[in-house]
Amino acid sequence: MSKLLEGKTALVLGVANKWSLAYAIARAFTREGARLILTYQGERQKETVEELAQELKAARVLACDVQQQQEIDQLAHTLRGDGGRVDTVMHSIAFANREDLSRPFIETSRSGYLLAQEISSFSLVAIARATSPLMTAGGSLTTLTYLGSARVVPNYNVMGVAKAALEATVRYLASELGPQQIRVNAISAGPVKTASARGIKDFSKVLEAVAQHAPLRRNTDPAEVADAAVFLASDLGRGLTGNILFVDAGFQIMGL
Ligand SMILES: NC(=O)c1ccc[n+]([C@@H]2O[C@H](COP(=O)([O-])OP(=O)(O)OC[C@H]3O[C@@H](n4cnc5c(N)ncnc54)[C@H](O)[C@@H]3O)[C@@H](O)[C@H]2O)c1
Repeated sequence: MSKLLEGKTALVLGVANKWSLAYAIARAFTREGARLILTYQGERQKETVEELAQELKAARVLACDVQQQQEIDQLAHTLRGDGGRVDTVMHSIAFANREDLSRPFIETSRSGYLLAQEISSFSLVAIARATSPLMTAGGSLTTLTYLGSARVVPNYNVMGVAKAALEATVRYLASELGPQQIRVNAISAGPVKTASARGIKDFSKVLEAVAQHAPLRRNTDPAEVADAAVFLASDLGRGLTGNILFVDAGFQIMGL
């Protein structure tokens, strides 16, 4: 079978460890023949991400803390010097303070609210601005969201609000970048036990509820999210932009 991402350069932001959804996505991108570039957030992650990059046969590993505009600028600068073209960007980044994912939403602090918005939503604008000029042959930008953007999921709180903003960001970017044949979409993944998810109080109860009520009666496998990301990044996804694609064992259709 021919490989779906042969000849494409893929930038994947958000690998922290083997449990990261971005890791499953990077693996699938490599499997499909993409030239892979990974980023890491800060020196603390560098070694782990470099080890994973070796295993994934990534071409490059670059620093990118999305709170540091100079790191985003440097990333774009390095990519420009490195052959120049990027075809697909995977944004798999979010953060909120742990206390904002456990106490009542009404107690969210101003700084915690702004932090979640900056890292989890604004960063998509910043990354789109930095990388879209490198998508000289058109391209695809995909982010990861969650049902908590539109429905109330206990303790998801400030992150639900950030995901609502992220999904609106997808639509505005899709509208503006469409004429350049750059597609912008989000995958709304079902809950998966990752480092970020562990920060949400009672996350295991969410996993249980999904396994009981989702039409497929099970949770989401990261490999399913990764295959959807391949689809969106590949020419098979050429007609899709501005979409929120649910990969969640069907959970989002259920009323009760
Ligand atoms: N795990 C789930 O249940 C689930 C479900 C739906 C959507 N998502 C989304 O998937 C994405 C990836 O999360 P994950 O679950 O794989 O967890 P993860 O903890 O493995 O990944 C989160 C990533 O965000 C990065 N990050 C945080 N702050 C950053 C910053 N300032 N600069 C650069 N990177 C930063 C972390 O380094 C990490 O790599 C997130 O957007 C998350 O909201 C997760």
